[in-house]
Amino acid sequence: MRIKAHDPRGQHVKSVLKMPAPTSTILWCRSRSELAHVAADHVAALLARKPKAVVALPTGQTPLGLYADLAARVAAQRLSAAQARFFNLDDYLGLSADHPLSYARFLREHFLRPAGVPEEHIRLLRGDAVSIEAECRDYEAAIEAAGGLDLAILGLGTNGHIGFNEPGSDWSAQTHVVALSEETRATHLTQTQGKFVIPQYGVTVGISTIVAAREILLLVAGRGKARALDAFRAGIPDPKWPVTALLTHRNLTVLADAQLKSAAVPDVMLPR
Ligand code: GLP
Repeated sequence: MRIKAHDPRGQHVKSVLKMPAPTSTILWCRSRSELAHVAADHVAALLARKPKAVVALPTGQTPLGLYADLAARVAAQRLSAAQARFFNLDDYLGLSADHPLSYARFLREHFLRPAGVPEEHIRLLRGDAVSIEAECRDYEAAIEAAGGLDLAILGLGTNGHIGFNEPGSDWSAQTHVVALSEETRATHLTQTQGKFVIPQYGVTVGISTIVAAREILLLVAGRGKARALDAFRAGIPDPKWPVTALLTHRNLTVLADAQLKSAAVPDVMLPR
């Protein structure tokens, strides 16, 4: 996907245009299970190529099918994730790893445990760290010590957030604390059927950490995602839509539910 050359936003877009042509494309999937299967093939191919790959994982409804598919392949001994290293993208601030809302708990239940990943290969953000600043620094250091991310798997927030990088986030930021937007908190409140008070803050790997990954897999499905996906498809980097920070990544794969394909927004695919 390339960027519109006539964007009035000036400098930023000019610098984007100087970068080598990115190669991203959107693969439209006809169902959630197809999306899960194609995503699982993608991860399995990486693990076959590089069994010790370093992978960052998202939370949410979207990757559940992927995690179930990968766990089934592990159970059938068609895949091993035992040598890979896993990080997560984000969590709520202040929650312990066993809190029912905690993303750490979610990932252990839905993927890390069923996929048989040994504890020493797992590093998850500690939302309840005594010093969250030190935790953010340690987390970045742990990713670096592992050799950097080979793959960042991302979901998409209805407002275009990736990880917990909300609209207006600093694209040069590494792991940091964020104030969650009302839209994000309201979505999460609905998802949890109002059973929990949604924290006001989160901790997330930054956009610079995400785009430093050698490969990115963006999964887009679910109600309310069309606007954010349309902003991405418009092809213009815009801090109001954090997902557009991915537009210039050189190894980005986007898997999206075909129901989100609005004819109103053609993908920007300028001739090379
Ligand atoms: C949360 C998480 C994101 C995730 C997003 C989408 O806000 N912080 O990391 O990508 O939700 O979730 P879902 O897949 O449930 O739509």
